[in-house]
Amino acid sequence: MTIRPSVGDDRGAITALYPDAFPGEDLLPVVGKLMDMPSGVLSLVAVDGETIVGHVSVTDCRLTDADARLALLGPLGVASAYQKQGIGGALVREGHIRLRKAGISHVFVLEDPAYYGRFGFVVETGVAAPFDLPVSWRDAWQSVALDSDAGTPHGTLSVPEPRNDRALWAP
Ligand SMILES: CC(C)(COP(=O)(O)OP(=O)(O)OC[C@H]1O[C@@H](n2cnc3c(N)ncnc32)[C@H](O)[C@@H]1OP(=O)(O)O)[C@@H](O)C(=O)NCCC(=O)NCCS
Repeated sequence: MTIRPSVGDDRGAITALYPDAFPGEDLLPVVGKLMDMPSGVLSLVAVDGETIVGHVSVTDCRLTDADARLALLGPLGVASAYQKQGIGGALVREGHIRLRKAGISHVFVLEDPAYYGRFGFVVETGVAAPFDLPVSWRDAWQSVALDSDAGTPHGTLSVPEPRNDRALWAP
């Protein structure tokens, strides 16, 4: 299994992957818009032989009133037949390596802390999500520092258009 940046020809496989990984959730609109962005998105695929078995998008973000270099992880999906084999973890870790090299200081995610805690994500309190979160989701708003010298960011995360949709931030 290898991890590499996605290319245009991967689009069909990535589009097939998400309904399989998330049968109850339609993530294709946001995944498609992220793939359409000309820059500012790290898009990695996990490949087993010729088969794309996992994908992650990580989007460059800013604070509303500061110049920090931040990123928002997601969606992350692994094909159902390949889950719980370390592929999701490999995508997250490779993403962190590439983002650190690119100068991103902190990565944010709104997902299950039981999973993301293992990659160093902790509950975020200094940076607010772009939309108010339901109380039950507060522990799911997490971040990890990739650059310990960067200081602690404060403010509200400013996300690009594909992620700037209230429906993505509420149950
Ligand atoms: C969530 C997902 C990206 C994880 O990728 P993966 O390759 O299956 O997971 P990994 O092999 O890296 O990690 C496996 C570990 O994570 C745990 N895990 C997997 N999915 C989890 C989830 N949704 N919540 C909490 N823990 C989870 C497994 O129990 C396993 O734990 P263990 O190491 O203690 O045995 C993948 O399962 C997926 O695409 N799922 C789609 C549906 C879903 O669960 N979505 C919720 C997103 S958090």
